[in-house]
Amino acid sequence: MSIVDQTREGDVLVLTINNPPVNAFSPGVPEGLHAGLDAAEADEGVKAVVIIGGGRTFIAGADIKTFDLPREQAPDLRGFVARLDAFSKPTVAAIHGTALGGGLEVALACTYRVATKDARMGLPEVKLGVLPGAGGTQRLPRVVGVQKALEMMLSGNPIGATEAKDLGLVDEIVEGDLREGAVAFARAHADQRPLPRISERQVQDASPELFAAAREGLKKTHRGQLSPGLIVDLAEMAATKPFQEGWDAEARLFMQAKDSPQSRGLRHIFFAEREAGKIPGLTKDTPTTEINQAGIIGAGTMGGGIAMNFLNVGIPVTTVETSQEALDRGLSTIRRNYENTAKKGRLTMEQVEQRMNLLTPTLDMGDLKDADIIIEAVFENMDVKKDIFKRLDTIAKPGAILASNTSTLDVNEIASVTSRPEQVIGLHFFSPANVMKLLEIVRADKTSDSVLATSLNLARRIGKVGVVVGVCDGFVGNRMVHRYGDEARKLVEEGARPEDADAAMNALGLPMGPFQMSDMAGLDIGYAIRQHQAQVRGQPKPDGWLDRIVETGRKGQKTGAGIYDYDESRRPRPNADVQRLIEDYRAEKGVQPREVSREEATDRLVYSLVNEGAKILEEGIAQRAGDIDVIYIYGYGFPAYRGGPMQYADEMGLKNVAAALEEYGQTPAPLLKQLADEGKTFAQYDREKARA
Ligand code: CAA
Repeated sequence: MSIVDQTREGDVLVLTINNPPVNAFSPGVPEGLHAGLDAAEADEGVKAVVIIGGGRTFIAGADIKTFDLPREQAPDLRGFVARLDAFSKPTVAAIHGTALGGGLEVALACTYRVATKDARMGLPEVKLGVLPGAGGTQRLPRVVGVQKALEMMLSGNPIGATEAKDLGLVDEIVEGDLREGAVAFARAHADQRPLPRISERQVQDASPELFAAAREGLKKTHRGQLSPGLIVDLAEMAATKPFQEGWDAEARLFMQAKDSPQSRGLRHIFFAEREAGKIPGLTKDTPTTEINQAGIIGAGTMGGGIAMNFLNVGIPVTTVETSQEALDRGLSTIRRNYENTAKKGRLTMEQVEQRMNLLTPTLDMGDLKDADIIIEAVFENMDVKKDIFKRLDTIAKPGAILASNTSTLDVNEIASVTSRPEQVIGLHFFSPANVMKLLEIVRADKTSDSVLATSLNLARRIGKVGVVVGVCDGFVGNRMVHRYGDEARKLVEEGARPEDADAAMNALGLPMGPFQMSDMAGLDIGYAIRQHQAQVRGQPKPDGWLDRIVETGRKGQKTGAGIYDYDESRRPRPNADVQRLIEDYRAEKGVQPREVSREEATDRLVYSLVNEGAKILEEGIAQRAGDIDVIYIYGYGFPAYRGGPMQYADEMGLKNVAAALEEYGQTPAPLLKQLADEGKTFAQYDREKARA
């Protein structure tokens, strides 16, 4: 089997691409396809050509791994697409699985497209910070109209074959064997002339208002991003300029987008997200258990959100609470959440009932005896958690996974009270747990490989990105965010206003800055953590400006007043009393307030994350810098187009990061200093570690 097989089916030449796992347009694929077209051209007996993917899919796009190769070494997708468009015999793309990006562009340059009913097709390049670079921006609007093409190219989401057929993107849905159907279709259309070419069509639905509205929409959906604006510009060219002009512009703008830090950031995250699931020592053969029944202890905000994840995928849940009232409240919150989703048209009422029917409320922990996994989601108190795990040890069936949703506590200590520490793991969901995609999977010292592998599978099943982390105070995400919070408070102490720190992070693309986030989480939570940590470390009771604010009763959004005041639509407004309290605090401490620039605020906040991240990496709490980035993007709203804090630091240059930390009075972590001195990046560190 070669990378592109040529097979004659009578007068049709079938070119089968064999480039597993997803038939990406990698080196060797264009050469094989060109050889196929050469053969078809040279043989008069060949009346038509079918291009089909071997294995599970049509071409899923350009090979993202080749994006950083010098242009002459990268597979020439555009060259092949141009030849296909001008080819003298009919060509048929036979699509199954996914035709994405360059894959759909190859299909669009064929004379015809046929697909299986479950095939999906789209132009997801925007998700990688680039744009369709092989004619997609010019051909798709000519087939499905500008409005639909923009929707597809700006969301990056694929459409199904039936919709594609209705839009004219697919000529025929093949019910039986795709290859046979495609060959029959090719034969039936072999003599049709002139060959219909999408590049010769005109866009039908363009208007200046449509493009103006699209540009306006980007301010909400893609604020601060480069490639979406370029996509709109190119779609406008498709509507207003000859094909060749748009095609040439597309090549130029593709390179501009591809070489941007935003695209590097998004591509980094694409691979980091997939790497995160790979754990040294775990293989495909690591035994896993089926999760058919879940138990959740606690029906509060976290417990309820966690339960919804299971109900959403059809796994029955037994929820335990200590009082009927708490149970009723928890259940009615879940029901209300589902009903709100139904009101928005994303669920039917029948589905709401189906999900609610999978939920069994109980006051008796003994009802968890059949659960395959039990997740404890009660408040953060070691004694309470230990007590629960002791009881679970006597109730849970052998082999059941015993998980804690703790966000900071020592999972080893929790596991130590059971007779089966190998079955104990931390599963740290992020609030709101039914929405946030991150799941920190906390591997304790004795957690078995099987429990870890089952937890990773479970994360995938419930639509989360699971990242394995080690045990320490706050694990990866919260440990870093605590340092970030310290730095934010210090900035204010030195002279910045809270809104300056928030504005710096908003400008970077984070929906919430440190103080907006604290107000949302509840200021009393951070307050309690600071008090607890001081106590544990034998330090005096913390008395920062923020502690004093909390002591006035301002607890954040939930009390309508925190660092900011909140109106009914939860818009933050600075408060004069808070400002005064901060000023008094500085005066009391003898701090002469100074101007803090946006640049300083940004550097100090992000680099405090990076510095702690470097320590976490060195300690082995996170396996890879890429894992830390995935955590920050899916758990803390760090913009994906910046690639996460560690990738951001790589872009800035670790030498500059280390120097800035020193300038601001922080000591760079040894690993950060070492990489900076060696002129390396965190990405290189990850690659070298993977090879070792
Ligand atoms: N290039 C290189 N590798 C790719 C790839 C691509 N386009 N798409 C997927 N892969 C790799 C993944 O990294 C993964 O590798 P590992 O097993 O080593 O981790 C493997 O293929 C399987 O991928 P998934 O784990 O994601 O498998 P899945 O079945 O869950 O999803 C998929 C399959 C829907 C195709 C998904 O991989 C996907 O969305 N891929 C990206 C598609 C894409 O963005 N295409 C556009 C590329 S840009 C382009 O084409 C530019 C242009 O116009 C010129």
